[in-house]
Amino acid sequence: MFMATTLFISGCATQQQSLYEELGGAEKVNQIVENFVIQIETDPTILPYFEGSDIDRFVEKLSEQICALTGGGCVYSGDTMEHVHAGMNITEADFNRTVDLLIRAMDAADIPHRSQNKLLKVLAPTRKEMLYR
Ligand code: HEM
Repeated sequence: MFMATTLFISGCATQQQSLYEELGGAEKVNQIVENFVIQIETDPTILPYFEGSDIDRFVEKLSEQICALTGGGCVYSGDTMEHVHAGMNITEADFNRTVDLLIRAMDAADIPHRSQNKLLKVLAPTRKEMLYR
């Protein structure tokens, strides 16, 4: 009986925490995005895509998008994924490579793999909006 009550309470607590909170909130999400930029800047294949880009804007909009998609309460104010990645002709290989850079960025921010996978799952649907466009 006691066990059942305990499980019920902890179940509720888990449901209330957003993925944003689980990741560590604004501080950790900003850390992930900053680390992601460092990874991009040192990757000879992905960096050329960002030539001429406003990196400050990228950091701001990606942080906001992650916050919005993970229940952090932000409203994404950037361009649509279709629009922003149009004309880049992003290949599947380069998309996967970019995801690897994001994983390294999350590793460097000490995000547990369980939480990393949840974020990747949330971002996965954006894939079809940007490949070969
Ligand atoms: C999980 C996948 C991805 C997500 C969630 C994502 C998200 C974003 C966001 C939020 C922005 C900023 C939008 C804005 O400025 O309004 C952006 C910009 C950009 N993304 Fe992605 N992106 C992804 C994958 C990729 C890949 C695979 C590439 C290239 C290999 C790429 C290249 C770029 C570039 C170059 C910009 C800057 C565009 C500009 O300066 O106008 N992204 N992305």
